[in-house]
Amino acid sequence: MPRFWNRFRWTDIRVKPADTVAGAQPEINQAAHQYGGVVFHDVINNTFAGKAIDKGADGLIAVAAGAGGHAGTKSPFALVQEIRSWFDGPLALSGSIATGDAIPAAQAEGADLAYIGSAFIATDEARASPDYKQAIVGSDSDGVVYTDFFSGIHGNYLKSSVVAAGFDPEALPASDPTKMNFGEDRSARVWKDIWGAGQGIGAIGHVRPAADYVARLRQQYSEARRRLSLGQTPARNG
Ligand SMILES: Cc1cc2nc3c(=O)[nH]c(=O)nc-3n(C[C@H](O)[C@H](O)[C@H](O)COP(=O)(O)O)c2cc1C
Repeated sequence: MPRFWNRFRWTDIRVKPADTVAGAQPEINQAAHQYGGVVFHDVINNTFAGKAIDKGADGLIAVAAGAGGHAGTKSPFALVQEIRSWFDGPLALSGSIATGDAIPAAQAEGADLAYIGSAFIATDEARASPDYKQAIVGSDSDGVVYTDFFSGIHGNYLKSSVVAAGFDPEALPASDPTKMNFGEDRSARVWKDIWGAGQGIGAIGHVRPAADYVARLRQQYSEARRRLSLGQTPARNG
């Protein structure tokens, strides 16, 4: 573990970390540092990673291809490899991670943490609508479209929600930034009616309590590590 983590006890995880996105903000970093907080900045490429650290972020969340919400297009292998060539601070990897098997994979690549988003939408505690949760359960990576049409920034969304909102997910035009207006109907419907989700949702078979899902992640993680230590590969996963 990098020396960074020695500053924290596990109980410190209760402290809400600041997770910033869309342009590193030095003043947010300073404010977080004043209360003893740490800032992890979302980045979709190595250039933004460098800028985030230069502006005072403590750690990085590498948002690789296939992540839910606003996501990049970089392979996690390329992204972590490039960031780890110069950065030895805390690094989380996100993008399509939904099983415990993927967590040692992220660690082996060089990440300290695996960062999971979409899979938690299909938990009892999530405030998403029941239809949204069922759409996650019923979809896989083929059911996800990557577009900048709805918010002006590229992201991954459930095709079924795009269809329900009256759009053809296979024929969405590119967004025109010069005409972007976040007050217009199209943008207002993002997240409420146009549902974000990453490509990893094929691993999610039903809605369940978050604790059950975390327990499953833990079990899969242990089994994956044991298999790797024995040189075994799974016949199937999920
Ligand atoms: C519906 C949705 C909304 C999101 N909103 C944000 C956000 O406001 N800020 C942010 O930094 N990341 C946001 N994310 C991205 C997550 O923080 C995380 O990077 C991503 O979900 C990880 O990929 P995964 O969904 O494939 O696990 C969002 C993701 C989803 C699915």
